Amino acid sequence: MEMMSHIKAHSLRVCQVAELLTDLMAKAHILLNRDLVYAGSLLHDITKTRSLKTGEFHAATGDELLCEMGFPQVGAIIRQHVALDEYFVSAIPDEAEIVNYADKRVLNTDIVSLSQRMDYILERYGTNPEYRQRLRRIGKYAEKTEKRIFGLIDINPEQVGHICQ
Ligand SMILES: [Fe+2]
Repeated sequence: MEMMSHIKAHSLRVCQVAELLTDLMAKAHILLNRDLVYAGSLLHDITKTRSLKTGEFHAATGDELLCEMGFPQVGAIIRQHVALDEYFVSAIPDEAEIVNYADKRVLNTDIVSLSQRMDYILERYGTNPEYRQRLRRIGKYAEKTEKRIFGLIDINPEQVGHICQ
C-alpha cells in the first residue's frame, strides 16, 4: 500500500496504546480479542496514504480492502476507527472502541490528551461547518469512551503516555 513512513509510525504507536488498554482490561477480567486489536490498530490507516491522492474515505475503503482479503472482523475495526457504527450498545468496550479511542490519543507518534488530539483533528479536517459539527460530536463520544475505559482499568488517562515510552 506504499504507506508513508509517518503513517506507519503513527499506526505502531496506536497499536501500543490499544494493546496496553487491552492488557489492563484483561487484568480487570475483561477479555478482548488481543489479535484483533493488534491487527485492527496496525492496519487502521492502511488506505490513508492512497486516500491523500484519491480523496476516498479511508475508514470505509480500509474496511473494503480487508473484507476482500477475507478479514471482515479486522475490516470492521478499521471502518469504525473514525466513528463507531453505534455507541455504547454493550456494557463494556469492545475491540473497535479500544482502537477508536487509542487513535484519538496519538497525534503523529506522540501520546497526547484527548482534547489535544481532537483540537488537531478539528483544525485539520473541520473544513466546513458540517464537518466541524460531526467532529465535535465524535469528540464528545470519545470523552464518554474515555470515562468508560478508565472506569474499568487501574490507571488514569494521563498515565498512558508515561507507560508507553
Ligand atoms: Fe485514520
